[in-house]
Amino acid sequence: MSNLLVTGGAGFIGANFVHYWLRKYPDDRVVVLDALTYAGNQASLAAVSQEPAFRFVHGDICDARLVTDLLQQEQIDTIVHFAAESHVDRSISGPGAFIQTNIVGTYTLLEAARGQWLGDSAPASHRFHHVSTDEVYGSLNLDDPAFSETTAYAPSSPYSASKASSDHLVRAYNHTYGLQVSTSNCSNNYGPYQFPEKLIPLMIVNALAGEALPVYGDGSNIRDWLHVEDHVRGIDLVVREGSVGETYNIGGNEEHANLDIVRTLCACIDDLFENNDELLKRFPNAPASSGKPAESLITMVQDRPGHDWRYAIDASRMRDELGFEPSYNFETGLRSTIDWMLANEDWWRAILDESYRDWIDNNYSKR
Ligand code: NAD
Ligand code: TYD
Repeated sequence: MSNLLVTGGAGFIGANFVHYWLRKYPDDRVVVLDALTYAGNQASLAAVSQEPAFRFVHGDICDARLVTDLLQQEQIDTIVHFAAESHVDRSISGPGAFIQTNIVGTYTLLEAARGQWLGDSAPASHRFHHVSTDEVYGSLNLDDPAFSETTAYAPSSPYSASKASSDHLVRAYNHTYGLQVSTSNCSNNYGPYQFPEKLIPLMIVNALAGEALPVYGDGSNIRDWLHVEDHVRGIDLVVREGSVGETYNIGGNEEHANLDIVRTLCACIDDLFENNDELLKRFPNAPASSGKPAESLITMVQDRPGHDWRYAIDASRMRDELGFEPSYNFETGLRSTIDWMLANEDWWRAILDESYRDWIDNNYSKR
């Protein structure tokens, strides 16, 4: 039996992880620490909020006293660290929060864990698992080999630079103090509970509302995509079976150009709307309501500054050492994500509030 502290558990991947963990390990205790920034949403944890094994703490990972008290009170032996500022576009318009949470926040957690786990009252075993991104490796050209665990770091946005910095800190706490850490660097995720400022949920929400689908630059940028349920399964394997001090790249083997993804989403949405009176009534501004294809909303907009062109993951270590294979293929994963968005309209409607719409409007008017 383990006592987990899950930071950022009200965010997209963290919430999926909490659902997965409580289902799979009902004897474990899960304490979520989340500052509920614009990206944090307690509604994503509603289904587990009454479970005795679950506790939600509203607080900041940069609060050293709070983190130390929690580790002590809850006898935490495992930290799974998701909390971060995670959106590249926001890191370009305001990098300060990224430095604070991603770097100072990770340092604060590491210090608290060191104090608690390497002192006199240390638990029998402990693990600090750090959830990171493939963006720390920088950008690839078409013929470059995919990122492996030994690829040199070359982050290029304030977001990826702050995550790279936190990765180095995590590794240093293992090397210098012997803290039992592991790190996973994952490709782009999609699936339930993703905040609709990221490519896939944004395109779905806008297509349903009949709003423009903004594709940056010429839409040729390539990302590797992994369904979030596969990601949390990969994290589970690394936390339980991964070697201490090591890094694991997690990916989906699904490289796709942005414009192709948006077109695929549009085609799926057109299929769903065809002869479906219920959807036509629910979403009267969707292009299908006026007989147009969803693709008619695609709008090419000015490129993101410093936009990385391609990310690709070599996931052979996860496969060979931990037996990990993704279970979703991209097209079925996209379809199930659209189905989830249609079945959970209340969830995304509630977060599309004034301040978020203002941010989107400002951001796009600057392009
Ligand atoms: P998210 O933005 O959806 O959620 C982040 C969560 O962290 C939110 O609940 C927010 O309230 C919380 N948070 C932010 N600052 C905090 C602070 N100072 N103290 C406590 N909580 C705070 O992010 P996500 O997409 O779920 O990503 C989770 C992690 O996975 C991040 O570390 C990210 O770098 C990494 N990652 C994400 C992706 C992806 O495609 N989304 C891919 C690879 C890695
Ligand atoms: P995003 O979801 O922001 O993830 P990341 O920047 O971490 O990869 O963006 C994924 C890709 O989609 C990226 O190349 C930028 C592009 N993009 C658009 O073309 N339009 C959009 O509105 C958004 C949000 C992203």
